[in-house]
Amino acid sequence: MDKIAKGPIGVFDSGFGGLEILRQIVKSLPQYDYLYLGDTARTPYGSRSQEVILKFTEQAVDFLFQQGCPLVILACNTASAEALRKIQQDYLRKHYPLRRVLGVVIPAAEEAVEKTKNARIGVIGTEGTVASLTFQREVLKLNPRVKVFQEACPLLVPIVEAGEHNSVVADLALKKYLKPLLGQSIDTLILGCTHYGLLEKKIKKIAGPKIKVITEGRVVAEKLALYLKRHPEIEGQIKKTGHRQFFTTDLTCKFQTLGSLFFGGPIKPQKAQLAD
Ligand code: DGL
Repeated sequence: MDKIAKGPIGVFDSGFGGLEILRQIVKSLPQYDYLYLGDTARTPYGSRSQEVILKFTEQAVDFLFQQGCPLVILACNTASAEALRKIQQDYLRKHYPLRRVLGVVIPAAEEAVEKTKNARIGVIGTEGTVASLTFQREVLKLNPRVKVFQEACPLLVPIVEAGEHNSVVADLALKKYLKPLLGQSIDTLILGCTHYGLLEKKIKKIAGPKIKVITEGRVVAEKLALYLKRHPEIEGQIKKTGHRQFFTTDLTCKFQTLGSLFFGGPIKPQKAQLAD
């Protein structure tokens, strides 16, 4: 039986990119406790099958629930796109009916639909996110007249993870990936991947001033604040001592250095053991 006591908000990502989302959430909602989990031992998720992404994400959510999180945010777009619906419909109902799991796709889709003026939205993301058509589905649910143009950008995550996000390599890759979208006269562009926040400046420069760029960190933080206002029964379950904990499935120096870059401050990660 699912028992619930007060606990931190869990934030999950396939690696350390979600720390960028957590950074923005902590900035606007510093009063809550947070527990971050990055599955660095098995990252990247972006090119994996839906079946594997679902299994890994369920294991991660299970870990966060075992740590006492009443609410988990899937900061990973690939996990939000490929696993969130199934987790909400099957897994939560069966195992954890009192807890909640939210993703990053719906907040970004809502923001893009609010912002577009010409009803033409571009999305960039991993291969998994793009192939799932989740952004398209969520945008069309909100406004069926909007046209969604997507581009998978498999090189961007490795570029950011190699610390090359300020390099000419990043410029070349971004130009290649954005060209087809810019050719579709989009006026709004969703950065549908945890890592792309670090490329925001470059993307804005290439996209030009007429395109509204949606970065998820800020949007997710805003929507989470609204969600907690609307759901006092969940909000009341969250600990408010300002405590932060960081877990990773593979404790490496890279997690510490790149993680601190994404989080915007030093982090002290601990090793997490996920149940199989
Ligand atoms: N966190 C993933 C996402 O937002 C990017 C990294 C990966 O492919 O695992 O889609």
